[in-house]
Amino acid sequence: MSNTYKLSGNSEASAELPSYSGTLGPDVVDVRSLYAQQDVFTFDPGFASTASCKSEITFIDGKEGVLLYRGYPVEQLANNSTYIEVCYLLLYGELPTATQLSNFENDIRTHTMMNETMLRLFNGFHHDAHPMAMVSGVVGSMSAFYHETMDIQNPRHREIFSHRIIAKLPTIAAAAYKHSLGQPFVYPRNDLDYSSNLLNMFFSVPADDYEIDPIAVEAIDLLLILHADHEQNCSTSTVRLAGSSGTNPYSAIAAGIAALWGPAHGGANEAVLTMLGQIGNAKNITEYVAKAKDKNDSFRLMGFGHRVYKNFDPRATIIRDMCHKVLAKLGRDDDPLFELALELEQVALKDDYFVEKRLYPNVDFYSGIIYRALGFQPSMFTVMFAIARTVGWVSHWQEMITDPEHRIGRPRQLYTGPKTRDYVDVAKR
Ligand code: SDX
Repeated sequence: MSNTYKLSGNSEASAELPSYSGTLGPDVVDVRSLYAQQDVFTFDPGFASTASCKSEITFIDGKEGVLLYRGYPVEQLANNSTYIEVCYLLLYGELPTATQLSNFENDIRTHTMMNETMLRLFNGFHHDAHPMAMVSGVVGSMSAFYHETMDIQNPRHREIFSHRIIAKLPTIAAAAYKHSLGQPFVYPRNDLDYSSNLLNMFFSVPADDYEIDPIAVEAIDLLLILHADHEQNCSTSTVRLAGSSGTNPYSAIAAGIAALWGPAHGGANEAVLTMLGQIGNAKNITEYVAKAKDKNDSFRLMGFGHRVYKNFDPRATIIRDMCHKVLAKLGRDDDPLFELALELEQVALKDDYFVEKRLYPNVDFYSGIIYRALGFQPSMFTVMFAIARTVGWVSHWQEMITDPEHRIGRPRQLYTGPKTRDYVDVAKR
């Protein structure tokens, strides 16, 4: 279907543009011919009104607080599935049969080790290097190790890359953590499931037995499911844009990790813990909420607000409920930070500013409290987000690379710089 759109500011100018409907969500207007028709660009910094691609992977309804992975509500997957099964679903589009799941899980388990020379890269980092810097650097270096399977037009090479990077991210993350502690690296174990192996590599030490707590395994697996994918968010769009140049997939994922690190995105979970530490206790909440509302103050309530969710983030609701359960099971239900977070949420949600601007807790508001209770340092929180989101990045990269219509991403601009002017010799300036 096509519609004619009058261009404001020029009563004669109009453009006839086709529109398309998806299976769910808003229709789109195809503006690809606009520049050719009317010599104008669309203008949408931040892309709040722009669909960058077609996708069958994840659907979000920001008004209704709906999040679907390949059509399955995230709440149902959180209650019934495992992260590895969700990885299969996101990658292949369907829930696996028992045999498919067993084969996939075995393939992931048997590719968790790192090349020993890659392990030595960590010695190049200072002990206080931020783990996200180490992880993004080492992931980018994977293209130096696996160049024999990087033909992005080869389906088998793409599958090997997908399984390899999902399998190795926890190993790389745990190596960064151990390096920051000055502790020996713990090798992955093929007898453990994905989340148990992750915990063992992070927290076991040669000098002691490490008992893997099933509560921690359940909590980690659920957090990985909830962070696995989220449509065209900043880091996923970064992976798609980097990948659209045809670069190797490891470099595209490393670019996604770098984008995730920002405090406006995946870095918010670490920033929430810092903020709660700054607030200190409930009597300071009013002061900090006032700072968050003050246009002259750069302070924002970290873990609040979302570009898409304007009522509630379904993931935050699940994680808040999980906080209660995990902290109680760990005997930490009097965690002062959790109490402070609950109080802050209540105060903010009653404040007109947050209500009018539709700012609600997002996925990052409570997740750090659970990671902290499980023993992770705040600097590792975004690394945990990156481990989970790797399958989302890979799934979108695959979808983009195999889309026959895909082109290199190359936006235009509204130029507001100087008009043409002549060079002036330095002696005359
Ligand atoms: C993630 O996109 C995704 O899907 C991301 C993610 C995923 O799974 O991939 O969901 C993960 O990144 C969650 C978001 C984590 N970030 C934070 O918690 C950081 C704090 N939140 C904000 O920085 C902000 O809300 C964003 C970045 C999340 C959203 O930014 P937008 O959509 O560009 O909104 P905005 O900055 O234009 O804010 C709209 C208004 C502004 O006020 P006005 O200029 O209209 O007067 O709301 C205000 C903002 O000042 N505002 C806040 C606020 N967030 C927005 N004011 C105080 N505290 C906040 N947290």
